[in-house]
Amino acid sequence: MAVEALKIAKPDFNRNTGISPEDRAEIAEKLGTVLSDSYMLFIKTQGVHWNVTGPVFVGVHELTEKQYTNLYNAIDEIAERIRALGHKAPASYTKYGELSSIKDEDEPKTAVEMIRMLTRDHATAVKGMREAVEWCEGKNDFVTADMMIERMTWHEEAIWMLESIIAE
Ligand SMILES: [Fe+2]
Repeated sequence: MAVEALKIAKPDFNRNTGISPEDRAEIAEKLGTVLSDSYMLFIKTQGVHWNVTGPVFVGVHELTEKQYTNLYNAIDEIAERIRALGHKAPASYTKYGELSSIKDEDEPKTAVEMIRMLTRDHATAVKGMREAVEWCEGKNDFVTADMMIERMTWHEEAIWMLESIIAE
């Protein structure tokens, strides 16, 4: 009897919020890719913040600090949304490398090359989110869709700001 009392009930992670367990699993998977893209972009943005040189140094150094800070906070929000859906958030550089469409093999030398790399990577992230939004809306997960739309707005603004630095 004492042994029976010590048994720990298996936690029930079926949220029953109107999204099927199968759909929640797929949304979590898509969010894992979004999380990985954001993490890769965070690392690369911080790299530009550190390594940029030349006449645009101050502008790029300051802008990238704001951008990597935003990405850092976003990463936490996206990971916690995956947890709220009942799944584990990927948390390793190896997994981020596998899941992300943004690759870290670039070694841009000039400020212009660095900015072009970041704008391309922001665009890649937005494209991934656009697909995720459409899918989430189709499955009635408006919370995740709303979060993605907010992130897309920010990324598109980031592209504009970075491009403006190197515009003729
Ligand atoms: Fe810094």
